[in-house]
Amino acid sequence: MSKKSIRHQEGDPNTTGHNWDGIEEFDNPMPRWWLWTFYACIAWALLYTIAYPAWPMISRATPGLLGASTRADVAAEIQLFADRNAPIRAKLEATELTEITSDPELLDFANNAGAAVFRTWCAQCHGSGAAGVQASGYPNLLDDEWLWGGDMEAIHTTITHGIRNTTDEDARISEMPRFGVDELLEKAQIDEVVQHVLAISGQEYDATQATAGAVVFADNCAGCHMEDGTGNRDVGAPNLTDAIWLYGGNVDALTHSVAFSRAGVMPNWSTRLSEADIRAVATYVHGLGGGE
Ligand code: HEC
Ligand code: HEC
Repeated sequence: MSKKSIRHQEGDPNTTGHNWDGIEEFDNPMPRWWLWTFYACIAWALLYTIAYPAWPMISRATPGLLGASTRADVAAEIQLFADRNAPIRAKLEATELTEITSDPELLDFANNAGAAVFRTWCAQCHGSGAAGVQASGYPNLLDDEWLWGGDMEAIHTTITHGIRNTTDEDARISEMPRFGVDELLEKAQIDEVVQHVLAISGQEYDATQATAGAVVFADNCAGCHMEDGTGNRDVGAPNLTDAIWLYGGNVDALTHSVAFSRAGVMPNWSTRLSEADIRAVATYVHGLGGGE
């Protein structure tokens, strides 16, 4: 390898005059085209910050001369969809509840809109899949076991007015007595009637106690839960003979239900959701599986 001189030679560009231990620096200016592009970029950036929101101020950035705003874009887009959906929402409100499911276009719209309403307003209590939460008092809406009724009109009424709330005069109301707290039944009678409930729900039970419990049941419970224990939708009294429990079907849970009563509450949605939204979510719930 030939040893090249690192010193300034004939034909080389000028040097900057800098010199470190004999190593000199060439003075190579940036190419003109590069420099001008660079200046153009600076000018473009400045103009951009004048035209568009850019410089941070105390509460918000400078708005920019062109008035661009992504917030306004979103509002416009929401409005656009609202306008587009307005006719079908109007139709949803005008159609008989029982007719909604037979109009494919309406049904499709209601199911989609209803699913969105459900995710926002109902999933906290009923679970995102509407399966309720086991033994929590929040009913499963997927099965065909209904407390208050599973046809479109019943579901619509339940959602509109809610259950046992104090805010809606037309809320669904019923009060199972607190047999223990209010001393309507002796402790022994409660134990007996619980054994009877175990018997009619197909679980293991104590035969002697259950026989006595059947009498307690006929006297105190049949009025709401019916003689055979299958429940009554007029008062939201659950069927006690199936394996579906709102609060649990073991001895402890049953004893608690009888002694304290539960009185689950659901808000009314009439003040929070539009009629179209209520109809949409009613259609969605109706379609989940157990609709009648
Ligand atoms: C704060 C909790 C809560 C929220 C939120 C809630 N629910 Fe409920 N829902 C309940 C409870 C508790 C019951 C059962 C009440 C009872 O014991 O009768 C219930 C019952 C129902 C029933 C009656 C089921 C049956 O078997 O008859 C329907 C239908 C229903 N909810 C739909 C909805 C819809 C739709 C929404 C959203 C718009 C919603 N719920 C939001 C708590 C809630
Ligand atoms: C006035 C009507 C009424 C009477 C009388 C009544 N119940 Fe109830 N019962 C209900 C209602 C309504 C519910 C649902 C409560 C709720 O959702 O909060 C219920 C719920 C229950 C539950 C909970 C069911 C579950 O799925 O978890 C049990 C158990 C029960 N009742 C047993 C009895 C027994 C036993 C008696 C008699 C000693 C009785 N009830 C008397 C109305 C009544």
